[in-house]
Amino acid sequence: MKISPSILDANFGTLQQDLNSIATADRIHLDIMDGHYVPNLSFGLPVLKGLTYPVETEAHLMVNNPGAFFDMFEAIGCKTITFHIENTGRAEALRLIKNLQARGLKGGVTIDGYTEADFLSDEILAVADQILVMSVKAGFGGQSFMTTSIDKIKALRARGYKGEIEVDGGVNLDNAQSLADAGADFVVVGSALMKQPAADRAGLITQYQSI
Ligand code: DX5
Ligand code: ZN
Repeated sequence: MKISPSILDANFGTLQQDLNSIATADRIHLDIMDGHYVPNLSFGLPVLKGLTYPVETEAHLMVNNPGAFFDMFEAIGCKTITFHIENTGRAEALRLIKNLQARGLKGGVTIDGYTEADFLSDEILAVADQILVMSVKAGFGGQSFMTTSIDKIKALRARGYKGEIEVDGGVNLDNAQSLADAGADFVVVGSALMKQPAADRAGLITQYQSI
């Protein structure tokens, strides 16, 4: 299992040190919230541009009109960008995935915690590099894991989806094995990692990677 820590629950007073403490992760997950699509704000470009990332980054766009933000996140070096299909619909999602791929980026699409996997059409599964299956309702870190995400992962694999499946929300060492067994490749881990002391994080990352 690969791990993409979310820095939403990092200490923003010492964000660079927190990034350095997770340098052995497979990539870093940037949760971007606009206060419209979700009722919360996270961080924007002025903050993100000032940081040095030890591994590649992905942007999880919880924003209205996500395509308007692609240039910005490409410019700061994100290799994967994912957006919510609930606010684009299927046709626009397909167009946006292809737009990302034309830039040489991985095109991802997210389903929120209460969205059924069926909302993703076969056409989308055929092109998406990544499906981000949320296991909470988007908007806040530190929520409880929704077990319904496990069946969604299984359903996507049963439909023949061969791309990357990443799970986001409430993931910890108690549920990560069940996600791997269902067919997930990557987990996003926020509070279960970033609320632990910095000195313990590399050891925790190794535990996820050995699943
Ligand atoms: C929620 C975010 C998640 C979340 C992860 O909207 O997309 O990435 O912050 O944090 P935990 O692991 O605490 O749920
Ligand atoms: Zn996220």
